[in-house]
Amino acid sequence: MSMTQKPAWKALAQHTGEIKRTHLSELMLDAKRCASMVASHDGVVLDYSRQIATPKTIKLLLALAKQVGLQNSLKAMAAAKKINTTEDRAVLHIALRADKKQRIMLDGEDTVAQVHQVLKQIKAFSERIRSGAWKGATGKKLTDVVAIGIGGSYLGPEFVYEALRTDPAAAKAAKGRRLRFLANVDPIDVTRALDGLDPATTLVVVISKTFTTAETTLNAKTVRQWLVKKLGADAVAKHMVAVSTNLKDVAAFGIDLKNVFGFWDWVGGRYSVCSAVGVVPLALQYGFEQIEQFLAGARSMDQHLLTAPLEKNLPVIMGLLGVWNATFQGHATRALLPYCQALLKLAPHIQQVDMESNGKRVSIDGKVLPYETGEINFGEPGTNGQHSFYQLVHQGRVVPSDFIGFKYSQQAQSLKGEPVSNHDELMANFFAQPDALAFGKTEEQCRAEGIAEKLIPHKVFAGNRPSNVLLLETLNAYSTGQLLALYEHRTIVQGFIWGINSFDQWGVELGKVLAKQVRTQLSASRTKKAKVAGFNPATTAMLKRYLA
Ligand code: F6P
Repeated sequence: MSMTQKPAWKALAQHTGEIKRTHLSELMLDAKRCASMVASHDGVVLDYSRQIATPKTIKLLLALAKQVGLQNSLKAMAAAKKINTTEDRAVLHIALRADKKQRIMLDGEDTVAQVHQVLKQIKAFSERIRSGAWKGATGKKLTDVVAIGIGGSYLGPEFVYEALRTDPAAAKAAKGRRLRFLANVDPIDVTRALDGLDPATTLVVVISKTFTTAETTLNAKTVRQWLVKKLGADAVAKHMVAVSTNLKDVAAFGIDLKNVFGFWDWVGGRYSVCSAVGVVPLALQYGFEQIEQFLAGARSMDQHLLTAPLEKNLPVIMGLLGVWNATFQGHATRALLPYCQALLKLAPHIQQVDMESNGKRVSIDGKVLPYETGEINFGEPGTNGQHSFYQLVHQGRVVPSDFIGFKYSQQAQSLKGEPVSNHDELMANFFAQPDALAFGKTEEQCRAEGIAEKLIPHKVFAGNRPSNVLLLETLNAYSTGQLLALYEHRTIVQGFIWGINSFDQWGVELGKVLAKQVRTQLSASRTKKAKVAGFNPATTAMLKRYLA
């Protein structure tokens, strides 16, 4: 039975008419409803009462999850079934943070044992680098790290790096060390990443699952040249290591295979931050203990996903509401709004996790879908976002939003004479914005405030704009892991409900192929004065301009 034929799907489609007649400002006055729309797990509280949803909506969404067999899909994933059918792969990023005692068997191998073997290797390696036991070519300690990688081999590690940079415990552990990222195949990014670094004290970690990604390969060669120029060719073994599944190409590049940290085809790029992809650079920067905390936080959310009943399950609720907003309410975008500067890279990371996973046109069995999947993700930390795009969110388009806040700041600050602490000032905004979106402001309210008649239409807020409010204790390694897993799982839940494959990414291939053709042309034109040929008229004209 196709998805749209499921009874709950049909009922939800019908229910949208009903829900259009409600307004959040009324729904929010029902204390019983509000109390029923809160769920929590291990210090993470989700208030979803500001969703345009009634208890009936939630009931129907949960029915849809059951009719779609969501729990069976989650179980199949956790049991290492090859649910990524277009690549014939299991999807086991939860094994990356599984407890040592757990067993997850795949093709006769225990994946958890494999994971802990690599973690042990990373622990020993990172301790040698951090203590200075491992010395560079000139005998100096390697205090700086440049992590070269793109997409899933960059965004997750940078998100976690930023999240922990101002956490007191992590910052203490990182004292005297620097971590830089180099992702874009843009010489400007190379300059920025290497600015102020000395090859003699720098370790380069090349991170690429395939080790064939054009951007990463060229950047790795460029940085190798930077190292070799100052330290000589023999320095490569001491200054370059890799994280990859492709040992053959790593060896061909000249990196000593003893210094390669492996992972497996059952780790999707965008789900790989808990593998060596993230653990190597992050353990080098913050020490292995911090990263163990990060993995423990993710594990806590994994267990919650797999064991909590659907109606109390945070990623399930968030995923179902995502489908409700995107498919049934027709909202193409959604915003991630952390009220915490350290989460400035959350939105860029989740952009990849979510959009590369769920931006699909066909069902898992290859049928063109009668509905759109995926959401356009964007976001900025509050309050910066308030002074940027919130105008549109309040009075323009409806953008379902996630507000993420913390009881305690990583950096407490209070000024004498100020009515509240700096963190309370931030959080005042955090609590105000979801209500402003939900309740809005009517003409009558404007009039009662004495606003001039001609300005009233401009000052009305229609309200009825949905949001989630997530409140956590504080941002540290553990809660960063929880947040990461929460958002990974939310995406996966949506993918299962939509009936798509959230684990492949064929949509990135076409552009790569065309770039290859352009690269060949550029090379031939530059070196042999070859004429531009084989492109459409528009591209031909622009290439001629570029080459002239
Ligand atoms: O953007 C496409 C993609 O394949 C992502 O899925 C992946 O995270 C990224 O490229 C980097 O790939 P690799 O780790 O193999 O260099």
